[in-house]
Parts: sequence; structure tokens; C-alpha cells
Amino acid sequence: MVSALDRLSYAAQQAARVAWYAGHYAAGRRLLKPMPKPDFPIGPTPTRAEMTADMRSTFEREWQDIAAGLFPAPRTRGPEPAEFLRRSARYFRDLPQVDARRHRTLDDELPPGQQGDGLPDYYRQNFHFQSDGWLSDHSAAIYDTQVEVLFTGAADVMRRRALSPIAQWLAGRNQRDVRGLDVGCGTGRLLAFLHDAWPGMKWTGVDLSAPYLAEARRLIGKTARVRLIEAAGEKLPFDDASLDLIVSSFLMHELPDKIRAQVLAEMARVLKPGSLVVIVDSIQRGDQPSWDGLLDLFPHYFHEPYYAAYVNGNLEAWCATAGLTSAAVERAFLSKVAAFTKL
Ligand SMILES: C[S@@+](CC[C@H](N)C(=O)[O-])C[C@H]1O[C@@H](n2cnc3c(N)ncnc32)[C@H](O)[C@@H]1O
Repeated sequence: MVSALDRLSYAAQQAARVAWYAGHYAAGRRLLKPMPKPDFPIGPTPTRAEMTADMRSTFEREWQDIAAGLFPAPRTRGPEPAEFLRRSARYFRDLPQVDARRHRTLDDELPPGQQGDGLPDYYRQNFHFQSDGWLSDHSAAIYDTQVEVLFTGAADVMRRRALSPIAQWLAGRNQRDVRGLDVGCGTGRLLAFLHDAWPGMKWTGVDLSAPYLAEARRLIGKTARVRLIEAAGEKLPFDDASLDLIVSSFLMHELPDKIRAQVLAEMARVLKPGSLVVIVDSIQRGDQPSWDGLLDLFPHYFHEPYYAAYVNGNLEAWCATAGLTSAAVERAFLSKVAAFTKL
């Protein structure tokens, strides 16, 4: 049973988070030199008021699920306060490089040296705000701040909307029997929320970035219930039909078409019949037609080599090709949370 105080506490925590990151966003806009307007036609874009209302409704849906007992209210997750502030300072110190890269006055796609040796070429480049791509402790330390600033404090709630279809799928199952996997787990935020919600489940997070996995371990803490391994989504180190549940957040739009198809096929291969996959990623063209212009603008303002191909495609169709059947879909602010079953 949740109380009025629980609701107040949830609302206060989320509002503080949004205010904090919206403040970063506003300060960042002042510090960054404006980008030239695109010289190609763009689709419709929402007003700020429309986006704020939509973000609020995403939090409200999460609260309704908590109140219905589907999963507990999220625990505040992140570094201790002094480190949290240091990371904000570091984020702002990194902005001049981001700006120079955006305006192409700095050509440092990745620092020279042995970084990324042995990793696939498509992976060894910068993505959106990332200095050093996925390949340094510095990038791993500021990633969470960057992403929350980009989504003005709504990145975590979008990730956590994956918990809703999982809770429904879990009905009648024992969480202790569930073997789960997060593909491209990054700094481990979704894994941490899943572990908090269902501490009996056994999880593995895979990612190609050692620094991001180290960050994930720090966030999640030492627990035998969450293993973290360096591996590629397109070559999952699991036997056929050995897992019950797979999640993946904000990975698919970072992959070239061919690799994305391989990752989805690998997910289908390692899942048992009756198992569930939940993918959280950018909305695609037509998911919210009056916002399509945002999908045109994003790769213009940020370095996102595979984003345009992602948003112009259809996740449900790609999953069907891989042998995964669409079970539920929710648009959560700027993300689509899509659940699939392996029949
Ligand atoms: C945008 S981040 C998303 C991270 C995390 N899931 C989140 O919700 O923030 C993409 C992550 O996918 C990882 N990644 C990219 N390509 C990968 C691949 N082929 N196999 C495994 N991980 C990959 C990157 O290292 C990075 O940590």
C-alpha cells in the first residue's frame, strides 16, 4: 500500500531531478555557440509546453504502476553528493570540446593511441556528446549527466518504463528463476533499477566498454546477482535458449543496420520460448508524428552516425524478422518502450 506521503516523496524527488537537469540544459545553451539552422526541410516539432506535459504524463504513468503495486518506487541512484557535484563540474568543463566538435573546429574523433584496439570500427568513434567515444574513464564518468541533461531529467524514467511490461510478464513466475540480460548496459542505470525492483533475479550486463562497465559496478555495488561482462551484443556469450528476459536501453540507435540485425537475432537465439525482450530507444518516425522534426534535428545537432537510419526504420518489423513477436508498446516521452516475446 502506498500513502499520500509516498506520492509526495516520489513527486518531490522527480521534480528536483528535472529542475536540476533542466538548469544544466539552460546553462549549457548559454555556453554553447548556436548551431546553424539545418538547410534541409524538417518535420513538425512540439512546443516546450507540450513536451513538459508529455514528460509529466510519463512520470504519472510510472507512479500509477507503483501505486498498483507492480514495482516499488525507485531508490535514488548515483554517486554520493560531493562526487555528484564534481561530475556536474566536469560536464561543464567538457562543453567547450563538445562545442568545438559540433562546429567542426576540433578534429578529435578519438584520441590517438591504442584505445579501442580490437573493437569494431563502427564502435570506435564519438557519439553525441561523448568526448573519447565510449572508451575512457572520463567519458564514463560524465555520461549519466550528459544523458540526463539531454532529456532534462527524464532519462531514468524512460529507462524505468521497461519495468512495466516486465512486471506484467512476471505475474505467476518466481523472480528467483529468472535469468536476465541487459545488452549494452553502459553505466548500469537500468540494471540497478531492475535489481532494486526484483532483487531475486540473476542479471548479466554486457557492454563493449570496460570503463562503462567499471562505472556500472560502482553504481550497482558488489552483488553476485549482477554479473558484468565485456562482450558484443552481436556475439552474445550465452547458449541457445538459456535466458528468460532481455532488456536493452538506448543501444539500438547506436548500431549500423547490419549489426543491429545481428544483435536482435542473437537476442532471439539465447532466449527460451515464452521469454520477454524489452527495448527502450528513441521514438521512430511516425510514433508521434507531430514530433517528427525532432528526429530530423537530433543528428544535425549531435554526432549520431546511425540515428537517422534507426528513426526511419521500424523496430517492430526488425524484431519480427529476428523471430520476436510484438507484445506491448508504450511511448514514454522521447522513447519507445517495446516489449516482444519469443514464441
Ligand atoms: C547510449 S549507451 C546506452 C547505455 C545504457 N544502456 C543506458 O541506458 O544509458 C550505448 C552503450 O552501448 C554500448 N555498445 C555499443 N555498441 C555495442 C555492441 N555492439 N555491443 C555491446 N555494447 C555496445 C556502448 O559501449 C554504450 O555503453
